[in-house]
Amino acid sequence: MRTLILALMLPLLAAMPADTLNSDSRAAKPAVIPRPMVMKVSRGTFILGLETLILVEIGEGDVRAVGYYLSERLAVALNRNLPVRGTPSREGVRRAILLTTAGADPDLGDEGYELTVTKESVTLRAPTATGLFRGVQTIRQLLPPEFEAGEARNEWRLPCLYVKDKPRYRWRGLLLDTCRHFMTKEFIKRYIDLLAYHKMNVLHWHLTEDQGWRIEIKRYPKLTEIGAWRGEGDARYGGFYSQEDIKEVVAYAQSRHIMVVPEIEMPGHSQAALAAYPDLSCTGGPFEVGTRWGVYSDVYCAGNEKVFEFLEGVLSEVVALFPAQYIHIGGDECPKSRWEECEKCQARIREDDLADEHELQSYFIKRIEGILKRKNRTLIGWDEILEGGLAPSATVQSWRGMSGAIEAATMGHDVISSPTSHCYLDYSHDSISLEKIYSFDPTPPELTPEQAKHILGGEGNMWTEHAPQERVDRQVFPRLCGLAEALWSPAELRNWSDFSRRMKTHYRRLNSLGVNYFIPPPTVLSLDNVFLDEATVLFEDAGPSAEIRYTLDGSDPTRASLLYTGPFRLNESATVTAVLVREGGRMSEPIRMDFLKQTLRPPDPAGDLAPGLKYRYFEGHWTELPHLEDMQPSTTGTAETLGIALRERDEGFAMEFTGHIGVPADGIYTFYTDSDDGSRLYIGSTLVVQNDGLHAPRERRGQIALKAGAHPIRVTMFQAGGDLRLVVSHAGPGFAKQTVPSSVLFHKK
Ligand code: ACM
Ligand code: ZN
Repeated sequence: MRTLILALMLPLLAAMPADTLNSDSRAAKPAVIPRPMVMKVSRGTFILGLETLILVEIGEGDVRAVGYYLSERLAVALNRNLPVRGTPSREGVRRAILLTTAGADPDLGDEGYELTVTKESVTLRAPTATGLFRGVQTIRQLLPPEFEAGEARNEWRLPCLYVKDKPRYRWRGLLLDTCRHFMTKEFIKRYIDLLAYHKMNVLHWHLTEDQGWRIEIKRYPKLTEIGAWRGEGDARYGGFYSQEDIKEVVAYAQSRHIMVVPEIEMPGHSQAALAAYPDLSCTGGPFEVGTRWGVYSDVYCAGNEKVFEFLEGVLSEVVALFPAQYIHIGGDECPKSRWEECEKCQARIREDDLADEHELQSYFIKRIEGILKRKNRTLIGWDEILEGGLAPSATVQSWRGMSGAIEAATMGHDVISSPTSHCYLDYSHDSISLEKIYSFDPTPPELTPEQAKHILGGEGNMWTEHAPQERVDRQVFPRLCGLAEALWSPAELRNWSDFSRRMKTHYRRLNSLGVNYFIPPPTVLSLDNVFLDEATVLFEDAGPSAEIRYTLDGSDPTRASLLYTGPFRLNESATVTAVLVREGGRMSEPIRMDFLKQTLRPPDPAGDLAPGLKYRYFEGHWTELPHLEDMQPSTTGTAETLGIALRERDEGFAMEFTGHIGVPADGIYTFYTDSDDGSRLYIGSTLVVQNDGLHAPRERRGQIALKAGAHPIRVTMFQAGGDLRLVVSHAGPGFAKQTVPSSVLFHKK
């Protein structure tokens, strides 16, 4: 009987795809990210085991270093150091991995490589040590995900294949803002490893800001004594990198074939430097290191020679620490208000025949460009450096969309593309999804092929106002994986569903590497959360390799909480809190939803009602709705509709509307406010819609059970600045969502 069952199963096994079989007997289907230019998989595997040799060319120091790097990676997984031997480039040595530059195809360029795996041997060939290093990352990713976890085995299997690979762009970067929140030296080194793993090659290290100066400058010690620390309540927050720290990080990055580009911000975003040296400002100060986010008015004085002496001194030390060809000098978001009022700045405008403060900014950047040029370095600035005239040899980093990229490339300048639409890793995963960043193309279609050559590549920007170090992983990952492929792989190979397939394996590698990537919480599909008899709780399907766990008492779910297996009913009020749990145990943040059992609210006894709502109008500045009920309005009156037409200015006001709303039938009603900034909607004393706080136009909803008739309604809103909006809508039994019409709004006479 047993033999029979086995015999029946065998053909089944043979028909199964390789990646569902035990990885001990066969290598998994390759899932390399970023996708190589050419990959041809053949039958069989190479056994990487205790007898494997690593052979490198004799005499090539940096090639040998890549050999040792590979040996170190393997040492953990084999619990043994593999010998690295010099060889006169002999191929096909049994059980050997050969790393060589001999005979490499020059078309592979600075970073390309060829990898041939046969049952007998592995040959990695590239014109440069950098290319070999990139190829080693491919070898790592051809091994099972557990390889990265430091789990020791006696042997690992590589699939037999041929890979030919090189990057689409030569600039594949990540910006880390270590100013808004400090990152430790170890954390930066970890990111260098993570970048290397994804074949990224630039770490853009944002080192100076309004809220902190993070690089030791020996000539100007107060920059870090004062500028590296800010007040947070009674505490001090901050930190900086000593020059020894910087050298260590730069050397580490070099060993990973990653260029570190420092950013020293000027003329704006310089409040921390001005706190240390207030004489460098237009007004003389005094200043504090910034403690709020946003743009500061005080900037370096463009009319003061001491500022240029200071910056030359700073840049001399920076250049000595960073071997990279490029130095980033910021140049973004520099308000001109101080320059407009400053005698020195105005004198400079007159003497240099400048048209205005924009040309003064251009003058500033051009002088800095001159300093860097004398030091044989290339200046990079954000796209604001285009305003008032671009410095002749500057490279432009386009962030306010792609227009800066188009303008600079058209003028023949090199460009790095990192538009907010696709590349801002501080933005939420809702606004920039993995799929969106995967679709990023750094080259605007408007450019001619000749102009397009100026697009060096792109960058993901990890600003950290809202991300202390422990949050950085979940902002950067998995989006960095999508960006890496967008920047490395040939455009014609980009394929979201194939990438998604490979990401399944890649998530397991990220687990092994201890990357705390973002996991989307479960999606609630239930439309009603207020109910009379019972509610149905419905989640979007979690997919094959994840599950949903939930609680009903408001506590955070664990892996042992209730398992969601399909829609379920509630007949009492409950708070449903759910998490998505991935294969391997990694969990999303919880999502919480209150399901409320209500009875129909009876209408108010009918009084003498007149059309429209009463309103009260207030002026002031808030960051959330104040207690308007306790405040004196500056104007009152009757409003026909729910809206802000009757305001007296566009910024710094609040409004309150009170009266009654008539509803036609018994049932559940949904109310919506779409506002900028905050708003709330009450029926009687129940807060139905909570949409408070400073925010862009945003809609929030809430529900309540009402009997037919007139119910007291109160809507409050405030506006700080910027966009301005209030739209109130509702839906109910027998009618779809609509703006609340004036015909249902009343007030008591
Ligand atoms: C920037 O995001 N201010 C470059
Ligand atoms: Zn000035």
